Amino acid sequence: MTPPDDPRDLRFAAPRQRRAALVTGGARGLGRAMALRIAAEGRDVVIADLLEEQGKKTAKEIAALGQRAIFVLTDVTIEDEVAAAAEAAINAFKRLDILVCAAGVLGLEAPFHEQSTKQFSKVLEINLHGVYHAHQAAIPHMRAGGWGRCVTITSGARRGAANQVPYAVSKGGVYSLVQSLGNAYAGEGVFVNGIEPGRALTDMVVPRFSAEHIADPGNPLGRYSDPEEVAEVAEFLCSERNTYTTGSVWSVKGATG
Ligand SMILES: NC(=O)c1ccc[n+]([C@@H]2O[C@H](COP(=O)([O-])OP(=O)(O)OC[C@H]3O[C@@H](n4cnc5c(N)ncnc54)[C@H](O)[C@@H]3O)[C@@H](O)[C@H]2O)c1
Repeated sequence: MTPPDDPRDLRFAAPRQRRAALVTGGARGLGRAMALRIAAEGRDVVIADLLEEQGKKTAKEIAALGQRAIFVLTDVTIEDEVAAAAEAAINAFKRLDILVCAAGVLGLEAPFHEQSTKQFSKVLEINLHGVYHAHQAAIPHMRAGGWGRCVTITSGARRGAANQVPYAVSKGGVYSLVQSLGNAYAGEGVFVNGIEPGRALTDMVVPRFSAEHIADPGNPLGRYSDPEEVAEVAEFLCSERNTYTTGSVWSVKGATG
C-alpha cells in the first residue's frame, strides 16, 4: 500500500462512524467514566447495570453530551438479561460495535479458608460469567458488521492476591478470555482487550482505605488514579485508532509491579 498523504492517517483504520456501545456496570465508577468518554467521541450508549437511579443519571449525562443513551436494568449474571441489553442497542441504535465490561464486585476479602464455595461462585458469576455473557451477546453483531471493539476490566489481583482468592481467580479468567477471544476474532476485525488499573478512586476502592492512605498511597506517582484516566485508555482501545492491539491487557497503574 502507498503511504497516506496525511501522516496522521492510519492506513488500516476503519472510517470513523457514529457507533453504538454497550457498557455493563456503567452506572458508576470506571464504567460510568468509560461510558462518558466513549460517548464524547460521538458514540451512542446502552448502560446496563443493577443500579437504576445511577444508571439513568449516567444516561442523562451522555445525552447532555449530544449522544443517545438508554439505561437497561441488567443483572450480568443472567444471560437473558445481558442479551436483552444488547438487543436494546440494536433496537435503539440499529447497531452494536463496542462492548465495555465494567460490572464487577470485589467479594469477600478474607483468607481462603474462610471463603465458602458459595462465595467463590457468586464472584465468578458476576465477574467472569457476566463478562462471558456480554461477549456472547455482542460479538455476533460485531462480526456481522465486520468491526468491533471489546474492553473488560481485569485486575492485578489475578497475580496472587492472597486475601481475595475468588476475585483473583475471576480476573485471571477474564485475562484468559481476553487472550482467547483476541486470537479468535482478530481476522474479522473484532478486537478484544482488557485493562488492568492500579487503584482508581471509585466506590469499590475508596471505602477500603483511610483518608491518609488515599492522600499518599506510597506508590511512585504518590496517588491513585481518577476513573477518567482509565477511561482515556479504554476509549483508545475501543476506537478506530486502535488498529493493532487485540488479545492484550493494558496496564494503567502508574508504575510497574
Ligand atoms: N477501581 C479499581 O481500582 C479497580 C481495579 C481493578 C479492577 N477493577 C474492576 O473494574 C470494574 C469496575 O469497578 P469500579 O471500581 O468502578 O467499582 P464500582 O463498584 O464503582 O462499579 C461496579 C459497577 O458494577 C455494577 N454491578 C455489580 N454487580 C452487577 C451485576 N450483577 N449486574 C450488573 N451490574 C453490576 C455495580 O452496580 C456498579 O455500577 C470491576 O470489574 C472491578 O473489579 C477496579
